[in-house]
Amino acid sequence: MSIEEIKQNVFKEIGNCKNFQELENIRVKYLGRKGKLTEILKSLKDLPIEERKKIGPKANQLKNQIQVALEEKKDFLINNPEVKPLDFTLPGKKIPQGHLHPFTLLEKQIEEIFANLGFEIVESNEIETEYYNFDALNIPADHPARDMWDTFWLKNSSAKNDSLKNQGKYLLRTHTSPVQIHYMETHQPPFRIVSPGKVYRYEAIDASHDIQFHQLECLMVDENISFTNFKFIVLSFFQQLFSKKTEVSFRPSYFPFVEPGVEIDISCPRCHQKGCSLCKNTGWLEIAGAGMVHPKVFEWVNYNPKFVKGFAFGIGLERIAMIKYNIPDIRLFNSGDLRFIKQF
Ligand code: DAH
Repeated sequence: MSIEEIKQNVFKEIGNCKNFQELENIRVKYLGRKGKLTEILKSLKDLPIEERKKIGPKANQLKNQIQVALEEKKDFLINNPEVKPLDFTLPGKKIPQGHLHPFTLLEKQIEEIFANLGFEIVESNEIETEYYNFDALNIPADHPARDMWDTFWLKNSSAKNDSLKNQGKYLLRTHTSPVQIHYMETHQPPFRIVSPGKVYRYEAIDASHDIQFHQLECLMVDENISFTNFKFIVLSFFQQLFSKKTEVSFRPSYFPFVEPGVEIDISCPRCHQKGCSLCKNTGWLEIAGAGMVHPKVFEWVNYNPKFVKGFAFGIGLERIAMIKYNIPDIRLFNSGDLRFIKQF
């Protein structure tokens, strides 16, 4: 098509065009990457100089005229009520949005439940001395219960400060229970606290064990705290976290910092005690260590055990997340595998 032919056709076509789609087709036909006028403009460089001087300005002028005509027609179509306007309701492009890690979601939910039960959320150290991780929790150095926690000891860390609390070696806390001591040293009862955080165990890693995981410690102390108060809080918590149908059961157990000490089981939230692979057909899941705070622990923080009572429990948060979201392997949490993360 020559410049003249384009001139004859294009303005007629623009004049007759009735909607935006047709107008766009015209633009592509003449000015698109392979458009008719574009081809002429591209071929200019191969022409002898004389021809180029003749055709070049004409082609460029026509290009400008077409652009103006297209704009004018567009304005006309926009302002013409008979023309179907652009459909602004068509779905736009979806922008991928980030979201919270399943573990963060769980932590938030748990904190909200405890906040509604009147508990304060406190944080504490991950590096501890033996005193806070063991001694003040009634686990002296020669006590066989120390074997219950496989500890990461820190190198060259014999603490310099000669106060009893800072003596001994530093370690990565093996449980969140030391927070009990820190909090009671600086606060007086009555209080209720929960403290979520990382803990470390020198253990072989498998589908249900990792060297770093999370626990949540709960502690309530007042003058007349009884096991009944304790049962109520535990039941309310698990029923809100799983479902109203959840039942709790307490089995006698041993932890040096509580007396009596118990292991808390909950009815299996997946099968409701009918028996399934999660609860290994027992109908129950072991979920927390707990008990009434041992009088010796109160003595370490200068409370008088005659006048104050309390309960405490510690739960493993990964275990809860695995039960709640059907996650089969603890290693998935830190795998960085987006196929896993995106499911939540
Ligand atoms: N700290 C214990 C552990 O890691 C769990 C625990 C047991 C916490 C009894 C408590 C408690 O507060 O009273 O195995």
